[in-house]
Amino acid sequence: MTPEGSLLAAEGLCKAYGPTPALDDADFSIHPGEVVAVMGPSGSGKSTLLHCLAGIIAPDAGTVRYGPYELTGLGDAQRSALRRSDFGFVFQFGQLVPELTALENVALPLRLNGTKRKEAERQAQEWLERLEVEAVSGQRPGELSGGQGQRIAVARALATRPRVIFADEPTGALDSLNGERVLTLLTDAARDTSAAVVLVTHESRVAAYSDREIVVRDGKVKDMLAGLI
Ligand SMILES: Nc1ncnc2c1ncn2[C@@H]1O[C@H](COP(=O)(O)OP(=O)(O)OP(=O)(O)O)[C@@H](O)[C@H]1O
Ligand SMILES: [Mg+2]
Repeated sequence: MTPEGSLLAAEGLCKAYGPTPALDDADFSIHPGEVVAVMGPSGSGKSTLLHCLAGIIAPDAGTVRYGPYELTGLGDAQRSALRRSDFGFVFQFGQLVPELTALENVALPLRLNGTKRKEAERQAQEWLERLEVEAVSGQRPGELSGGQGQRIAVARALATRPRVIFADEPTGALDSLNGERVLTLLTDAARDTSAAVVLVTHESRVAAYSDREIVVRDGKVKDMLAGLI
């Protein structure tokens, strides 16, 4: 049962670390251009779900289909090539490369995909402008505020025009005003490029940014709209 027209769909995901399951028969699907907020208490399995969907960790059981691909059936090299070309990532603490400037950080994934340096930096500059951080383009991560760092992480995730953006508490380390601004910029840019967004967040006003909300509890996924919770 693959939801019709979905871009990324998981069925029956199970993942255990020791005796307690982190994911317990979890299903998920997302359409192109859709923003799905993933909510739920700490330790409920949100990050594990995101990592399985992105092909970063392999589930013990279940399937993850992305377009025509079955992620669990691909080799490591194929999976990482797919991640580089089609997926973008934003984590809680940015995880920028400390030795590179903001501009170089955003240009990096383009360079890895084979874009020439000048062109990569031109595109990176546009993303910095879009995320309202062009003023700090020459600074290194250690010289940025938390909010600036996250905007640069968002610019880096969007620069390759991924089909799916995975964001794991991208505003978790920001104050609420900054957090809301970063979420607006992220989801607006994603909608403009028709990218789907899997957004793990504790942001209370998340409904303003998402098309759909799901809740993960004890490794099980519940759709808020389905009235199952
Ligand atoms: N690498 C790991 N090794 C052992 N246990 C793990 C590992 N990763 C996650 N777990 C366990 O799996 C469960 C789900 O963890 P997960 O990180 O997915 O939760 P989460 O919903 O993202 O929580 P948080 O909101 O705190 O980030 C937890 O009980 C956690 O302790
Ligand atoms: Mg987590």
